[in-house]
Amino acid sequence: MNELWSDCIRSLEPYRPGEQPSIAGLIKLNTNENPYPPSPAVLSALQSAANADLRLYPDPDAETLKRTIAEVHGVTEAGVFVGNGSDEVLAHAFRALLKHDRPVLFPDVTYGFYPVYCALYGIEFEAVPLDDAFQINVSDYVRPNGGIVLPNPNAPTGIALGISQIRSLLEQCPRSVVVIDEAYVDFGAQSAVQLVMGHPNLLVVQTLSKSRSLAGLRVGFAIGDPGLIEALDVVKGSFNSYPLDRLALAGAVAALRDADYFEKMRGQVMENRDHLASALQTLGFEVLPSKANFLFVRHRSHAAKDLQQALRQRRILVRHFPGQRVAEFLRISIGTPEDCAELVRTLREIIAPAP
Ligand SMILES: Cc1ncc(COP(=O)(O)O)c(C=O)c1O
Repeated sequence: MNELWSDCIRSLEPYRPGEQPSIAGLIKLNTNENPYPPSPAVLSALQSAANADLRLYPDPDAETLKRTIAEVHGVTEAGVFVGNGSDEVLAHAFRALLKHDRPVLFPDVTYGFYPVYCALYGIEFEAVPLDDAFQINVSDYVRPNGGIVLPNPNAPTGIALGISQIRSLLEQCPRSVVVIDEAYVDFGAQSAVQLVMGHPNLLVVQTLSKSRSLAGLRVGFAIGDPGLIEALDVVKGSFNSYPLDRLALAGAVAALRDADYFEKMRGQVMENRDHLASALQTLGFEVLPSKANFLFVRHRSHAAKDLQQALRQRRILVRHFPGQRVAEFLRISIGTPEDCAELVRTLREIIAPAP
């Protein structure tokens, strides 16, 4: 530890993202990227943006992107915030909206970045246990709190809440900020954006990393009451005036405008997911019901960590999380049909080797 570090940094433990090795020929099912490329319109927009004047700063207000998000989601531009990936949007939401005199609530099994933001900003939190079926019960959150953060679908379980459960939570906690992290919502869950009008305490966060195949471009956004968005703008303007560069702005707009491609590709991922889930069940896995682009699975007689290592030796990456309740599971991102078939073939070889 370096004596030159600030005191507040010494005790921080950063979030560790899944590995991104540069090894050719890997089947990479460990970080929930989309197996398909982004819309071809994105690539031509990036080309034009690169040919334009990179000498100049990008638009600090990201007006065209916000207008496009507002059009796609049927909200006003004043109700849209954009950031460098939804990680940055979430970080600003923790900073701007969740630091109160009571603990922030989120599930005990959930996205690992939430406790990291709390540590960074000195926010107390309470991890609320999922039930025995790994489900969120919204009634567990109806108690004094400094804000509520729920991913929908949850990660890494993939299990989604229905819109009526979110509406009921908002109505029972009108004085709490409720952040719904919809990183995976486009793969079959219902978006809470429809509840923003009429619920000034709701902030919905989405990303272009998953369903729009743009993890490499780093674009996320939030939709909420303009009063909440203004607080996010204050944090952003005190941190980095230009979190989205010219390429990211242009690529994101092009991706959002290509509705046909979006519908086609998310449909394909959902279809691949349903096939993979059945194939894994046939191999003896329990598969939690997923509305995301990943499956959370455990085998009745093979330890998840052993399976992860055996797959890795065979050049297939999946994610294993240490820690109570989740260590028995593997999280497997949905690949192409070919990736999924190779995964199933390899798992069969590991689990039940031919005599
Ligand atoms: C639940 C959840 N929220 C947010 C994110 C952040 O996504 P990004 O920063 O790529 O938009 C992730 C990434 O995997 C996630 O799993």
